[in-house]
Amino acid sequence: MVKKRKPIIAGNWKMYKTSTEAVAFVQELELAVAGMEDVEVVVCPPFNALVPVVETLRGAVISVGAQNVHWENQGAFTGEISPGMLKDAGCRYVIIGHSERRQFFGETDVNVNRKVKAVLQYGLTPIMCVGEQIGERESGITEKVVRTQTEAGLAGLTAGQVAGMVIAYEPVWAIGTGKTASDSDAQQVIGFIRDLVNQLFGAEAAAQVRIQYGGSVKPQNTGSLMAQPDIDGALVGGASLDVESFTQIIKAATR
Ligand code: 13P
Repeated sequence: MVKKRKPIIAGNWKMYKTSTEAVAFVQELELAVAGMEDVEVVVCPPFNALVPVVETLRGAVISVGAQNVHWENQGAFTGEISPGMLKDAGCRYVIIGHSERRQFFGETDVNVNRKVKAVLQYGLTPIMCVGEQIGERESGITEKVVRTQTEAGLAGLTAGQVAGMVIAYEPVWAIGTGKTASDSDAQQVIGFIRDLVNQLFGAEAAAQVRIQYGGSVKPQNTGSLMAQPDIDGALVGGASLDVESFTQIIKAATR
């Protein structure tokens, strides 16, 4: 089956790499992925490295994303960064609602929704993360949890806005654990999210929104995940920190 949606592989570097390391990485990556234009490639460095990475990648096809954002554009919010600042830095994407932010920094569905709306207003593309914890999967409430997070995160958006964004399904128990969701489990939840988008925003938004899988994505499991009808890419943590493994993942996602 040929998917109409362009696959998107994004590297979430979390709190890794100095700006010097980040620049060296993207210089190497740019050479490694030259010509692989069937896949959109995004790197999401920590804030310190955003501007140097954007400058290094000027003219390259690799896009840059941030890992978090505030919903206000300026103000007395010590330690925060705004959508306008990320836009000015040259970012195109922003990861919003990652489970580590939900777990360690009190991120709520309401704030995820505020952030999604704020970045859209500044012409940035949200990569909105949803996913269940292990206890929730074991109690059989995965779809309920994912439904709540998705509905709340997308509340008040237009169909056109949803069509242009990216949703990442990351089961929390699969992150950094080496336990990838099976291809069919990942497809099942991602298909469920696409159906939900269809119910809430209509068929066109559902057909266009790109939905990634995240959680222990490696070069070896990328191809079969990407072969699932509703999986449009991957949000990669650990394996995105190494040029060789990240490149292999991008290769595996190439049609
Ligand atoms: P790992 O690929 O290290 O499991 O991390 C996934 C993730 O959290 C990406 O956002």
